[in-house]
Amino acid sequence: MEKIRWGIISTGGIAHSFAQGLRHLPDAEIVAVGSRSQASADEFADQYDIPNRYDTYEALVADERVDVVYIGTPHAFHADNMRLALGAGKHVLCEKAFTINAAEAAECIQLARERGLFLMEAMWTRYIPAIVRLREWIDDGLIGEPRMVQAGLNVNLPYDPQHRVYNPELGGGAMLDVGIYPIAFACMILGLPQTVSHQVQMGETGVDEHAAFLFGYDDGRAALLSFNVRQLLPNEVIIKGTQGYIRVHPPMHHPTRLTLYQTTGDKLEDFDIPYQSTGLNYEAAEVHRCLRAGLTESDVMPLDETLAIMRLMDAARADWGLVYPNDK
Ligand SMILES: NC(=O)c1ccc[n+]([C@@H]2O[C@H](COP(=O)([O-])OP(=O)(O)OC[C@H]3O[C@@H](n4cnc5c(N)ncnc54)[C@H](OP(=O)(O)O)[C@@H]3O)[C@@H](O)[C@H]2O)c1
Repeated sequence: MEKIRWGIISTGGIAHSFAQGLRHLPDAEIVAVGSRSQASADEFADQYDIPNRYDTYEALVADERVDVVYIGTPHAFHADNMRLALGAGKHVLCEKAFTINAAEAAECIQLARERGLFLMEAMWTRYIPAIVRLREWIDDGLIGEPRMVQAGLNVNLPYDPQHRVYNPELGGGAMLDVGIYPIAFACMILGLPQTVSHQVQMGETGVDEHAAFLFGYDDGRAALLSFNVRQLLPNEVIIKGTQGYIRVHPPMHHPTRLTLYQTTGDKLEDFDIPYQSTGLNYEAAEVHRCLRAGLTESDVMPLDETLAIMRLMDAARADWGLVYPNDK
């Protein structure tokens, strides 16, 4: 089978995890990396045996050997990087949060569709084996009809106003960094909500550091979600169904353990479902599956859903008065 040839934009934390994951896929080849600095590109390339290393992202997307580009920059640059890669005719997998706002997301999606190129938000949770199993259980009716999702992702990131999570110039804030996980999780199980209410606590740099959301559905279903970047909490998910419930053990965005309970609260069974490598290999495998099938998007993380979630987050930010430079 011909290998799928990847180019990686950026050499930061997640780009390393993604490169490690790609090396686990037998039909993937990392042919190029692009960085803002040659030294960083060289160091990254040496680590993963990447033959072509560039000191600009422009040079990376111009490389004819690259089939698909992975974008691992801070969210504030995702739209620019997607425009660049799609404009050069490359398929794209872009880190979460997909963009800073829905306008940017809509523009990138339109560009991909016009050009017939593959595009996907790198919502890796949906491809983790335990989550694939969870979706099968729900489709098979193991807990009856899912009625309620409780989910939280709460991390303790040392406060540094320059760090991308606290810096508004880089799209800082808990929602775009960690909140997207419980939000996308609830949407995966219950669909997009009809009503959204929320409470937020803003931090010293003017970005959201802590928030809670209540999703409402016309038939009474609900999701209760929370996230923050200042305190580590048990990051689990409970999915309550009409005939039982499932606990997704921490970490909810890449779990390896699920427990099935009856409505009485009695435990039925624990399931350990480990994953290989860094876990980012599964989303990459989905890109491969789609490209080989001639698909331009994944039905597991559809672009319309990515856009709808960006709109939902835009609406919350508008209520909070949180405006990023990208919004202006
Ligand atoms: N899926 C996950 O589990 C996961 C985990 C962490 C982060 N993420 C996502 O991945 C993205 C990057 O996060 P990260 O933690 O990897 O960030 P990071 O460690 O700060 O790396 C970001 C990289 O982006 C490039 N970059 C371009 N312009 C930049 C600028 N003005 N300031 C800083 N960096 C810039 C840099 O690479 P060069 O210098 O080589 O150009 C930098 O190394 C975010 O969107 C985040 O939400 C996802």
